[in-house]
Amino acid sequence: MLKSNLLCFLLILMLSVFTGGEDAYFGGSLGRCIYSTRDYSDMVYISAYLFNKDKYTEFNSTVGKFVGYTDYGVRNAEYWNNNPDFMQQMRAEVDRFCRHNAQIFDSSVRDKTVKPTVKITSVKQPHGGHQAMLMCSAFRFYPQRITVSWLKDGKPVTSDVTSTEELANGDWYYQIHSHLEYTPKSGEKISCMVDHASFNKPMIVDWDPSLPESERNKIVIGASGLVLGIVIAAAGLIYYKKKSKGRILVPH
Ligand SMILES: *[C@@H]1O[C@H](CO)[C@@H](O)[C@H](O)[C@H]1NC(C)=O
Repeated sequence: MLKSNLLCFLLILMLSVFTGGEDAYFGGSLGRCIYSTRDYSDMVYISAYLFNKDKYTEFNSTVGKFVGYTDYGVRNAEYWNNNPDFMQQMRAEVDRFCRHNAQIFDSSVRDKTVKPTVKITSVKQPHGGHQAMLMCSAFRFYPQRITVSWLKDGKPVTSDVTSTEELANGDWYYQIHSHLEYTPKSGEKISCMVDHASFNKPMIVDWDPSLPESERNKIVIGASGLVLGIVIAAAGLIYYKKKSKGRILVPH
């Protein structure tokens, strides 16, 4: 599911710690740029001042001035609001800091797309079900939004399909897995269709019911080992035969 497309970036301007043993005090300020449009027309700059997690003064660019939340915070807000130079600077932050950095972040992260790798695998049914089950997996894609669907002979399948959410890998990439339960029929072509921002058109992967490559490799390696063994054994036998022919057996 698509998460809220509200974007926000933070800047911790300063964080000072006044140590006092067990009960340390934390003072800090947190700058935030909040927007949800491509043209940054709804950009809001928030600068909050905190002490021990309590906000005492905050600047909101929509309001255009500081607001205090405690006695000290109110005095602080008044003091800053009466400093025209500082206020001019604060009101410019929504452009200077927010819109400027949003452009950089969007072009370096938000607008980037990474194509998924798509794979269909056969999975065992839990509880020994009779139906066959296929899993279509898309790995390492960005951004999150993706659609995974199934086709039977090119026609969309809607029933007996279950899918996970887009799962965050924790490294900015996502993965998703869609399951299809079906009764195998000969000559039927099953495909998985994936659409993602990184594609010009949806990607279609056909299910190959023959053995997967790893299984084929195991058979090839096993067969090669067997052939090699037979060749070595045959060579040994021929060598032994030749040797024993040339030997004269001396009776005791
Ligand atoms: C900033 O101020 C506007 C106008 O009062 C308000 O709608 C908005 O919620 C405020 N933003 C934050 C993050 O407090």
